[in-house]
Amino acid sequence: KSLKSYNTFGIEVKATEFVEVTTEEDLLRILLQYQGKPIFILSGGSNMLLTKDIEALVIHIKIEGITTEKTDDQHKIRINVGAGESWHDFVLYCIKNNFGGVENLSLIPGYVGSAPIQNIGAYGVELKDTFHSCQAIEVATGKRITFTKEDCQFGYRDSIFKRKAKNKYIITQVSFVLTTQNHQLHTAYGAITAELAKNNISQPTIQNISDAVIAIRKSKLPNPKEIGNSGSFFKNPVISKAKFNNILKAYPNAPSYVIDENSIKVPAGWLIEQCGFKGKRWGDAGIHKNQALVLVNYANATGSEIKQIAENIKETIKSRFDISLESEVNIF
Ligand code: EPU
Repeated sequence: KSLKSYNTFGIEVKATEFVEVTTEEDLLRILLQYQGKPIFILSGGSNMLLTKDIEALVIHIKIEGITTEKTDDQHKIRINVGAGESWHDFVLYCIKNNFGGVENLSLIPGYVGSAPIQNIGAYGVELKDTFHSCQAIEVATGKRITFTKEDCQFGYRDSIFKRKAKNKYIITQVSFVLTTQNHQLHTAYGAITAELAKNNISQPTIQNISDAVIAIRKSKLPNPKEIGNSGSFFKNPVISKAKFNNILKAYPNAPSYVIDENSIKVPAGWLIEQCGFKGKRWGDAGIHKNQALVLVNYANATGSEIKQIAENIKETIKSRFDISLESEVNIF
């Protein structure tokens, strides 16, 4: 089966076998049937670069459904979301029902079930800020396990599911605690402040913030339905203050975010742009013209061609700035 329409990079590779599961029972049955054989879990396919055919049973997790329940705090609600729900549709559902907390995460591609794996984040908010817990199936035993927020060990684009628990669990449901009034708005991120000001909004609602984020993302990030991509290809590196001071000598206006006394986060997109990669294209593979952190597939690029560009960028940044970029996208 072709996986081209199942990965947002739009890479043409094949799966030996493919099955879509819509319930937890289905999933358990398939796992039992394929015990000991290779499986590959596919969610929204929005954070992966496929470089070869997948010789395994690809299980596409399409478990849907949203339920809400009361919490001890009358201003908050708990919401339980099936792993196969589209992330952005979930955000729109929250906005429509006036549930606050995920509006800054509007228009992020992918499904709810993979959002905890890399602790998705944008415009000053991360998934972990509203995450309550998630349900998962242990692949080896078929046992149902709950992961609390502490269990997940969230970090910047990081969680236990990228480390110790990698490939061992399949997330089936994610629960969030959201506000029903007195929403905590996050409008300090420069691009949001500017977008709200542009529209003369001084007392924003969660709807206003969602609209602002959607406008910003549309202006900078390519729509995967039009141009294949996986969002930011690399993480923003954290470097020592000493190293950053060196960069400042050559580039007095280099952007940065202070992490602590000794470390500074530098936007990888800026580093990549300084090396002249922005907007470059080789065949159908290239670097987006508005955001140098986003690698793109214009039509029929192969995963290896994209990977080659990523390697080229990594080597150039290493020799020019002595910084090792780490990919954010999972490469298979
Ligand atoms: N910049 C450049 N040139 C570029 C791109 C960026 O100079 O080509 C500069 C910008 O001028 C700005 C700074 O870099 O000063 C930051 O740019 P931007 O606000 O676009 O954010 P980013 O650091 O490139 C991160 C996340 C995004 C997230 C945005 C907004 C990572 C790896 N990426 O990107 O997340 O949407 O912030 O919060 O942390 C993703 O993870 O896939 C993703 C899109």
